[in-house]
Amino acid sequence: MDAIVVKGNGPLKGETHASGAKNAALPILAASILAEGQHTFRNVPDLADVATMLKLLRTMGLEAERRTGKRSHECTLEWKGVVHPEAPYDLVKTMRASVLVLGPLLARHGRARVSMPGGCAIGARPIDQHLKGLKALGADIELTEGYVEARAKRLKGGTVSFDVITVTGTENIMMAAVLAKGRTLIENAAREPEVEELARVLNKMGARISGAGSDVITIDGVDTLKPVDHAIIADRIEAGTLLVASAITAGDVLVKNAVPEHLEPVLQKLREVGCQIAVEAGGIRLKGPERVLAADIKTKEHPGFPTDMQAQLMALLSSAKGTSVITENIFENRFMHVAELRRMGADISVEGPTAVVRGVSKLSGAQVMATDLRASASLVLAGLHAEGKTTIARVYHLDRGYERLERKLSALGANIRRIKG
Ligand code: EPZ
Repeated sequence: MDAIVVKGNGPLKGETHASGAKNAALPILAASILAEGQHTFRNVPDLADVATMLKLLRTMGLEAERRTGKRSHECTLEWKGVVHPEAPYDLVKTMRASVLVLGPLLARHGRARVSMPGGCAIGARPIDQHLKGLKALGADIELTEGYVEARAKRLKGGTVSFDVITVTGTENIMMAAVLAKGRTLIENAAREPEVEELARVLNKMGARISGAGSDVITIDGVDTLKPVDHAIIADRIEAGTLLVASAITAGDVLVKNAVPEHLEPVLQKLREVGCQIAVEAGGIRLKGPERVLAADIKTKEHPGFPTDMQAQLMALLSSAKGTSVITENIFENRFMHVAELRRMGADISVEGPTAVVRGVSKLSGAQVMATDLRASASLVLAGLHAEGKTTIARVYHLDRGYERLERKLSALGANIRRIKG
C-alpha cells in the first residue's frame, strides 16, 4: 500500500486545475447503459472509482471502452445490447456508487441484480430510499442473499417523495424514470450540481427532465435514448480541497476550472476565516492569511455546506485563532480524521455529531493513517502546514477521489512525495 510523505514547506504559490468531477462521472458512466451505440465522455477524471465503474460496466457487457490517453481524459463506451445485468458483491463492496447501475438496468433491460452495498467507514448509508423510489415506479424488488433482485416489464411514471435527501437516490430514480411510461415527479430531490449535470447529459440523450437542481424534478418518459458526447464538469470538492491547501499554507493559488457557484458556502466560510478570494482567469484564486480565524460549520445538503469538505475545513481550523464548532449532519461517523489530526497535535473533542476544535498555533508532523477519502485529504492538508514530516498510510483512499493530488501540490511548491508500498 502506498504512503505519502509531506513536510511543511511554506506558502503554496502558482496555478493548478480541478479535474473532472468524480461524483458526476460515476452516474454519467452508469447512464451510458440507457442507450446503444458509442458514447464519448471528456474530462473524465483518472481515479480508482472511475476505473471500478468501468470494470463493472465491462462485466455487464460493455463492448468497448477506450481512454485515449490520460492527458485528454477522454473515454468512449459502446454498448451492443447484450447486457449481463448484475453488479457483483466484490465490486459493490469496493465502491458503493455501483448501485447507480440499478436504475438504468431496470429502465433499459427490465431486470437487475445488484449487491446491497455493505457498511462504510463514514456511516451505514442504506439504500432504502433508492428501493422505495423504484417500487413507486412499478418495479418488483426482492432482497435475497445480500442482493437486490429487481424486475419490471416497463417502469411506469409515478411520484417519488424521498424521506431523506439522497444524491445517488435522486440520480438512480432519474435514470429509471427517463424510459418509464408517463410522468415521474421526484419530490425532496437532491440539488447537488452533479445531479444537474446528470440531467443535462440525459437530456442530451433525448430525455425530458426539468427542475434538476431544485427539490422537485419532473421527468416525462420517452421510448428510446441516443448515445451522447459530453465533457464532464469540474470537481468542486477537489477544487475546494486545493483552495484549502492555499489557505492552510498562507499561500496564493489559482485553481482553474473551479466553478464559484458550485462552491458558494465553502468560499463564504473561507472568507469568514480571513482568506482573500477572487474569481478570475477561469477559476478561483485564494490568498491565505498568516493564521486563519475560527469559524463554526454545519454540514447540510446542497446548497448548504458540503459534508465532503468537512474534514478539509477541520484540518484548516485545527490551527486557527480561537475555537470552532463543526457539526456533521449528513453522515453519522464522519469524524474518523479527528483521531489522526490529534496525533498531529490538534486539540479536538467530539460529542455525537459535533466536534469542538480549539485552534493550536502549529501542528506537528506524525505518522497517520487514512481512513476514508476526504479524511485522507484532510491529513495531507494538515501535513502541508505542520512542522516536520507527516507520513500518511493507506493512501488508496485518496486515490479513489483525487487525481495525483501529490503532483498537483508539489507543482505548487509543496514538499510531498508518494512512497510505493
Ligand atoms: C453522495 O453519496 C456522494 N457520492 C458522497 O460523496 C457525498 O458525501 C454524499 O452524496 C452526500 O453529499 C456520490 O455521489 C458517488 P446520500 P450518497 O444518499 O448518494 C442517507 C465523496 O466523498 N440515506 O446523499 O451515497 C445516508 O445514510 C462521497 O465523494 C438513507 O438513509 O449519499 C446519508 O446519511 C462520500 N437512505 C444521507 O442519506 C438512502 O436510501 C445522505 O446520503 C440513501 C441515503
